[in-house]
Amino acid sequence: MPRELIEKLWQRGREFLGVELPVMGGAMSWISESNLVAAISNAGAFGVLAGGNMPPEMLKEEIRRTADQPDRPCGVNLITIAPNFRSHLDHVLDIGLPFVILAGGLPPREAIARIKQTGSRLLCFAPTVGIARSLLRGGVDALIIEGHEAGGHIGPISTAVLAEQILPRIHEVPVFVAGGIGSGVMMVHYLMMGAAGVQLGLVAQIERKAISVKEAALKLEEFWIGALRRAVIDGDVTRGSVMAGQSVGRVKDIMPVRQILEHLIDEAVAEAEQILKRLER
Ligand SMILES: Cc1cc2nc3c(=O)[nH]c(=O)nc-3n(C[C@H](O)[C@H](O)[C@H](O)COP(=O)(O)O)c2cc1C
Repeated sequence: MPRELIEKLWQRGREFLGVELPVMGGAMSWISESNLVAAISNAGAFGVLAGGNMPPEMLKEEIRRTADQPDRPCGVNLITIAPNFRSHLDHVLDIGLPFVILAGGLPPREAIARIKQTGSRLLCFAPTVGIARSLLRGGVDALIIEGHEAGGHIGPISTAVLAEQILPRIHEVPVFVAGGIGSGVMMVHYLMMGAAGVQLGLVAQIERKAISVKEAALKLEEFWIGALRRAVIDGDVTRGSVMAGQSVGRVKDIMPVRQILEHLIDEAVAEAEQILKRLER
């Protein structure tokens, strides 16, 4: 019964992404590379390759490697404000991909239209109801709402506030919730509010086979974020910049992605059971 409740709640997200678990492994610049994407998608969730500000040739190679690995759906995330965005976009338009995610502020209308022409399913981030509606008018197929709890993200609005503003108002397309979700408990509650699924950052992705988080942190420092090394490597969290959401505090162990996702589902089922019990009282 609790499992059936969850199945019903996430049906729309499953159908949209074409996966067993409508859990997106949120793109993390320099961390979400082809091995990690494959591990997530092969475990039944939805891996997302991070374009970040990779040199264009590297992105091409990563897309090629990703295409070779999982036999299940996955996506590519491009950052519209990255200096290499135009080259990334041209390549994605050339090859046509099933799922594209545009991040980094409001995506240019022309980029949306061109991606849609290739037949890709396009997901964008919506920070307000007005922007959500404008993205829908532009032809966006699904939305992600991401609160300031999200690691590596500095939006001003919390996930809970975004969820209460957007989930009851936007029904036309699936909406995925990101930021601060560290367990199956929160996942069930956002699903009950109308989310089609969730997107998780580091919590979902502490996977042995992928490049290590420390290694990735160093790359982030090199290419993207100024003070990350000071925080992550030297431990100076006062002057440094920590690129992880608070939900990373729930990470107690390094586990294969499949195990992390199984744990997430167990927690979700247990929470659904509690909810059903409360309703019976
Ligand atoms: C190190 C790091 C890098 C990230 N890079 C990106 C990115 O390139 N594009 C993007 O859309 N989101 C990026 N994010 C946000 C994640 O995709 C995800 O939405 C977020 O981490 C979810 O919140 P959580 O960390 O609380 O689970 C990044 C997050 C982290 C922790």
